[in-house]
This record gives sequence, C-alpha cells and structure tokens, in this order.
Amino acid sequence: MKILKADFVKSAVYEKDYPKKLNQTEFAFVGRSNVGKSSLINSLTSRSKLARTSKTPGRTQLINYFYINDMFYIVDLPGYGFAKVPKEMKKQWGQIIERYISSDRKKVVFVLLDIRRVPNEEDIEMLKWLEHNKLNYRIIFTKMDKLSNNEKFRQLKAIRTKLVFENEDVFFHSSHTNKGREEILTFIESELNEEN
Ligand code: GTP
Ligand code: MG
Repeated sequence: MKILKADFVKSAVYEKDYPKKLNQTEFAFVGRSNVGKSSLINSLTSRSKLARTSKTPGRTQLINYFYINDMFYIVDLPGYGFAKVPKEMKKQWGQIIERYISSDRKKVVFVLLDIRRVPNEEDIEMLKWLEHNKLNYRIIFTKMDKLSNNEKFRQLKAIRTKLVFENEDVFFHSSHTNKGREEILTFIESELNEEN
C-alpha cells in the first residue's frame, strides 16, 4: 500500500481523549525510548517531520494519533525504560502505555527492538504481556543500517538467547534507508483488508 495522506489528529493521555473509534484496526508502535518509533512512523508515511524525533530519549511523552489515507490511525507511544526520567514521570509514561494497550481499541501492536541490543527485561515483559492478553502484535527490528551483514548475523544469534522467533515472522527496518518499509506496509494493508 501507499500512504498518500498522513495527518496529525491529536495527543492524548486517557482513553476518553483518544480520537473517535473507527471501524478500521489501528496500528501502534511501542518500544524502549530512542528505539526509533517516531522515525519509523515518518519512514512509513514518507513524511520526515510528521512525528517528532530526537537524539535524546524521551521525546514522545504522550500518545500521538495520526490519520492515514483518511482511513485508519497510526499511534505513536512514549518509550519505556528511559533511565534518566524522574521516577514519577516514568510511572506516568508506563501507565499511558499500559492503558493504551489494555484499551478496547481494535489494534495491532508493533514492538520495536533495536537490532544492536539484546532485549532487556522490559522488552520481554512487554512481549509476554501482549502474548498473555492475546493481542495481535509483531516485532520490528530497527536501525538495521547500523550493522554490517556479519554483525547482523552475530547479533541475531545473541538476541535469540532471549527471544524465540522465526525470521519470516519479524520485520527488519531502517529509517535511514527505508529498507523494510514495503514489507511493513504490505502487512498493514493485509490487516486492514482482513476485516472488510
Ligand atoms: P522516544 O520518543 O524518546 O521514545 O524515542 P523514539 O523511539 O520515538 O525514537 P526516535 O524516532 O525519536 O529516534 C531516536 C534516535 O534514533 C534519533 O536520533 C533517530 O534519528 C535515530 N534513529 C531512528 N531510527 C533509526 C534508523 O533506522 N537508523 C539510524 N541510524 N538511526 C535511527
Ligand atoms: Mg518518539
């Protein structure tokens, strides 16, 4: 699919503030702070400044809703696990993410993992929680441009000590080269078609 139109709708904290429900599935992006959630949204929409990104972790602090092709929503969430955030704020962000995930919006959750890191406790917790709640989720490995092929091979082996997956079931993406973008868009399209 092609994304021809992408508009910021609103920022929200509580479910009552989310934009009105559509009949279509929405697609949310979760993951550690700085993993590249907002950059991925910009890559998918071919809009370099739609979602705000930053070198400093903790850029996205609210739930940001984007309306795509006048048809469905993409949801940018705050990141988890950013150590330098005061405890109280961390708790708030955690609750924002949790509330979104347990909300009764029909959704697919993309869990982003930095290809250069072995998933940590929080990543594993998130995946377990999605699994436990029988939510429809997919893993996307981000920042693929940062590793050589050899390094990728080695890194996947290291990641597999923490996480079991088949390469066919996950996505590999780079927001710098946009590699992997089409596969994700094709998947989104197939999920949208599913319900109609
Ligand atoms: P929070 O909103 O803080 O949770 O972060 P985020 O997950 O939205 O990350 P963001 O998209 O803001 O990106 C964080 C940093 O990583 C920025 O400096 C991006 O330019 C960089 N980055 C994101 N994706 C990629 C990628 O695919 N390749 C490279 N090389 N850098 C990336
Ligand atoms: Mg962000």
